[in-house]
Amino acid sequence: MLRRLHHTQPDNFAFTAANMDWAKGQITKYPDGRQASAVIPLLWRAQEQEGWLSRPAIEYVADMLGMPYIRVLEVATFYFMYQLAPVGSVAHIQICGTTSCMICGAEDLMAVCKERIAPEPHQLSADGKFSWEEVECAGACANAPVAQIGKDYYEDLSQDRLRQLIDDLAAGKVPVPGSQIGRYSSEPASGLTSLTEGVEGRMPHNASVQRAVDLGDTIKRIDGTEVPLTTPWLGKLGKAAPSRSATPNEAKPAMGKPADDTGITVQEAREKSTGVPVSKVEPAKMGTKPAVLSVARDGKADDLKLIKGVGPKLETLLHSLGFYHYDQIAAWTAEELAWVDDNLEGFKGRASRDEWVAQAKLLASGAQTEFSARATKDGKYDA
Ligand code: FES
Repeated sequence: MLRRLHHTQPDNFAFTAANMDWAKGQITKYPDGRQASAVIPLLWRAQEQEGWLSRPAIEYVADMLGMPYIRVLEVATFYFMYQLAPVGSVAHIQICGTTSCMICGAEDLMAVCKERIAPEPHQLSADGKFSWEEVECAGACANAPVAQIGKDYYEDLSQDRLRQLIDDLAAGKVPVPGSQIGRYSSEPASGLTSLTEGVEGRMPHNASVQRAVDLGDTIKRIDGTEVPLTTPWLGKLGKAAPSRSATPNEAKPAMGKPADDTGITVQEAREKSTGVPVSKVEPAKMGTKPAVLSVARDGKADDLKLIKGVGPKLETLLHSLGFYHYDQIAAWTAEELAWVDDNLEGFKGRASRDEWVAQAKLLASGAQTEFSARATKDGKYDA
């Protein structure tokens, strides 16, 4: 299936304050230089905020992670969980159309969607409240046919039951997910013939359905008001911190905790051997600072984004460090590369990982790298 950005795009995107805090906390889960690993949760949160992923949202996440736009676009267009078109304000209904569900009536369910919502998938209903699509196996095949609506599955569906669900959702009701014909879980439709012990006195619903009923928010999207992300690895339990490396002298999780049964702490042991209080220790700086410029020569910087691994954010960071031209980067020695790697706050190690020097040598000579050839051909980064 062809997955493209929607023809109509909003002008901009920004995380809400709550979602921004959460996103920054997510990024700190990954080692310096590996912030791109947060791309999937950040895209997901952007989608939860807006309902779908617009081009500004994709580029916003790319900027946050210092990734080229095309890399984030690849992720957003590859995974079907990302919606690239506006979805219904109340619910987006995903009908499983794989083998078990197809045999058990998925096409009938899609006929209901066409009749009640819109003739084509990914189209909004006339009132903008609903949209639908066919999806691959939802993994609940024993209870086919199945639809996912919001966070939950509705199983053993019939046309009438799906119509009723849509009516209930439109009326603001929160239907009970799970089997719609009264099955507890995925036991035979005719009832249990074995493992019948414990049936009496069990909860009214299986654990998944009970959880959904307890939450009562089947179709509510995450908005940042949920339990905040905890970042105990930053020594700040319960509160996301803006940057893993923002405060080099802040207390580490082990601070004050005995390292062994002698009762001495790691910090005390270090202080004892060096005579320097831990709070006064500056983090070791690596390498040698290369020659830098205060401004670009002739007021025109090279397009550093043509170096694979350098996105708009990293380009800005490189400018702030005094690097504007390919020949500057091409001239870095191993010691200077180590210095740059160590000073790419939030992206440490990126310069050597992505072999910026080798790429810059080619670009400085007027040749293309495989990446720059592709980028300029796509017209993404016109220098
Ligand atoms: Fe529909 Fe697996 S085939 S859930």
